[in-house]
Amino acid sequence: METKEAILKRRSIRVFKDTEVSKEIIEELLKSAMAAPSALNRQPWVFYVIKNKDILEKIKKISPFTDKNSNLIIFVCGNVSGINPLNLNDFWIQDLSAAVENILISAADMGLGSLWCGVYPRVERVNAIKTILKTPKNIIPFAMIHIGYPKEEKEPRTQYDPAKVIYID
Ligand SMILES: Cc1cc2nc3c(=O)[nH]c(=O)nc-3n(C[C@H](O)[C@H](O)[C@H](O)COP(=O)(O)O)c2cc1C
Repeated sequence: METKEAILKRRSIRVFKDTEVSKEIIEELLKSAMAAPSALNRQPWVFYVIKNKDILEKIKKISPFTDKNSNLIIFVCGNVSGINPLNLNDFWIQDLSAAVENILISAADMGLGSLWCGVYPRVERVNAIKTILKTPKNIIPFAMIHIGYPKEEKEPRTQYDPAKVIYID
């Protein structure tokens, strides 16, 4: 698939088939994530790949924002050792966002559906996920990505709006 096609094909999918996503495909997704650019090439990320049914259930129970039926969730987390997460001068949020988007586009490219659910900076979500995943102090859950084979179809699209573009020639 062409890159542009995969970018347009990436849509938020909220209904998934039971079909398991293979280890090889998960690794491809993680390779895409870790190809992302990061400020000073610091790569301040850690990925929690959740297939365990009990943990998936716990995640789905804590809040309506997680009630999707995928059997695979990847948490993209920030490793904030040496970083003050409240320091607005830091780029870790951009770094992690780039990694998340790479996963979503790569998933679309391989025929998978995905859904980005925001965790950070909602403190209650961050803390709930930290408790479930038992993360060390320096690891901040940033985004939760549901991944699986799609059970709903969505049209590829852009939301191109020329009114949102300012050219300065
Ligand atoms: C930071 C972020 C947080 C999001 N959180 C949620 C969420 O909690 N639940 C949800 O169903 N969708 C969530 N979405 C998906 C958006 O609703 C979706 O991207 C938007 O409606 C556009 O649709 P599309 O992804 O199909 O283009 C989130 C997207 C982003 C980028």
